[in-house]
Amino acid sequence: MSKEFDVVVIGAGPGGYIAAIRAAQLGLNVACCESNPYDDPKGEPRLGGTCLNVGCIPSKALLASSEEVENVNHHLADHGITVKDVAVDVAKMLKRKDDIVGKMTKGIEFLFRKNKVTLLKGHGKFVGKADGGYQVEIAGKDGAETVKAKQVIIATGSKARHLPSIPVDNVMVCDNEGALKFGEVPKKLGVIGAGVIGLELGSVWRRLGADVTILEALPAFLGAVDAGVAKEAQKLFTKQGLKFELGVKIGNVKADKKGVSLAYTAADGSEKTLECDKLIVSIGRVPNTDKLGLDAVGLAVDERGFIPVDDHCATTVPGIWAIGDVVRGPMLAHKAEDEGVAVAERIAGQKPHIDYNCIPWVIYTSPEIAWVGKTEQQLKAEGRETKAGQFPFMANGRALGMGAADGFVKVIADAKTDEILGVHIIGANASDLIAEAVVAMEFKAASEDIARVCHPHPSLSEVVREAALAVDKRALNM
Ligand code: FAD
Ligand code: NAI
Repeated sequence: MSKEFDVVVIGAGPGGYIAAIRAAQLGLNVACCESNPYDDPKGEPRLGGTCLNVGCIPSKALLASSEEVENVNHHLADHGITVKDVAVDVAKMLKRKDDIVGKMTKGIEFLFRKNKVTLLKGHGKFVGKADGGYQVEIAGKDGAETVKAKQVIIATGSKARHLPSIPVDNVMVCDNEGALKFGEVPKKLGVIGAGVIGLELGSVWRRLGADVTILEALPAFLGAVDAGVAKEAQKLFTKQGLKFELGVKIGNVKADKKGVSLAYTAADGSEKTLECDKLIVSIGRVPNTDKLGLDAVGLAVDERGFIPVDDHCATTVPGIWAIGDVVRGPMLAHKAEDEGVAVAERIAGQKPHIDYNCIPWVIYTSPEIAWVGKTEQQLKAEGRETKAGQFPFMANGRALGMGAADGFVKVIADAKTDEILGVHIIGANASDLIAEAVVAMEFKAASEDIARVCHPHPSLSEVVREAALAVDKRALNM
């Protein structure tokens, strides 16, 4: 007889594994399946999805390592520290990253055992309906089995979008998977797409010594980011040595073992060629919705391949849910996790709610960029009357002590009610500083609320408070 579960989760990324754990915590009998071995030496499926294996965690490990190199090469002298004979061992750096990933993925296996989540190793797909649920086939190395699930959570995530004219081999022309494991620092690195991956991984390899050129189709730099922050970011990243060409049209690529030659049309219409040792293609991601047997249960995807869901991640088929990168909304690990928790709780009869306006974004460049809520340009387009306060890190003693005086915090509030509508940060530790703004916005706080709360001194968080004070033109240290 086939195994039966209350919930089967397809995909063990941050959406899926968190949904499985939360559902198990709530007393449900849960299985989670995963098919991708990523870099597992034994070819066994590895847990953690894109985020742990080829996304958030390995990229942040390399960002941290390369930041150390940047400090030695460019910042320690300001502190009166001289370091001689600096050498970078790329193999060791990659091993450190791989060890962190290995530890984290093993950690999820432990959490599954602790919470009694059954791990099904293999590719999951719907094969039909069952009495009071659905049949899901799991095809693994040792054959296929079909299990029955009362409810199914689709958490199959996303993969890098590729261009038809630019075949990715993940050796010379790479998406995120290859770009996280260059065996040596390329002398010249080309990047297509000045988005989050382009900026983060472009920064990693530039800090390690590569000459990096980033080609972007749109005429505006970081168009979705608050315009003031985007302008500051472009200025700072250019000063660091990243080269940008905006408004380009990408043509064909020629690649062999020696290098890559990329044809493109520049914004002024001239035909150009970028010669580089490696090329990263980072032009967005597409949902993993093929080979899921959606027809077998009457589910269809939208024109971009996403699974349509309502505000609670319910699909059009009762008892089937979809979360994370495979549905609308930002492709972020914490968004996937929160949807996983919410769906598990809803299956268990609770009434959770996600405020999508309060999901923070972070770009882990140096300085970091973080924001929550709306940008000034979005609010203007909505015709909303607003007031804003901005405060620079340069006027903060802790930032000066850290040698991290670049950037600012901007708080935007409703002109009449003072409710905070958006907080935008470019500066050191923005990823941590934004959490205060997220909590404030979840509680519908006014800028006055942040302005009146005591903040530790000296700390970078004082810049958030000063920006809130600046909304009503009463910043104290400027
Ligand atoms: P995924 O993490 O993609 O996991 C889905 C899993 O399902 C995969 O392991 C896949 O193999 C498996 N799967 C698919 N189909 C099947 C099937 N039929 N059967 C069995 N298993 C299946 N986000 C952040 O918030 N912060 C960051 O700093 C960040 N950095 C990133 C850096 C990079 C380079 C990249 C590429 C992404 C980054 N992201 C970051 C985005 C983040 O990784 C994703 O938003 C997140 O992983 C989505 O989670 P998910 O669970 O929806 O899908
Ligand atoms: P992205 O959407 O952030 O950026 C893609 C960029 O490529 C855009 O600026 C776009 O205009 C440009 N582009 C698209 N087509 C192009 C073309 N043909 N030629 C030139 N430029 C083109 O996507 P990216 O960087 O691939 O990252 C994918 C997603 O992964 C992100 O949107 C984000 O959701 C997630 N991510 C999150 C991170 C974080 O939270 N820190 C880090 C890395 C990825």
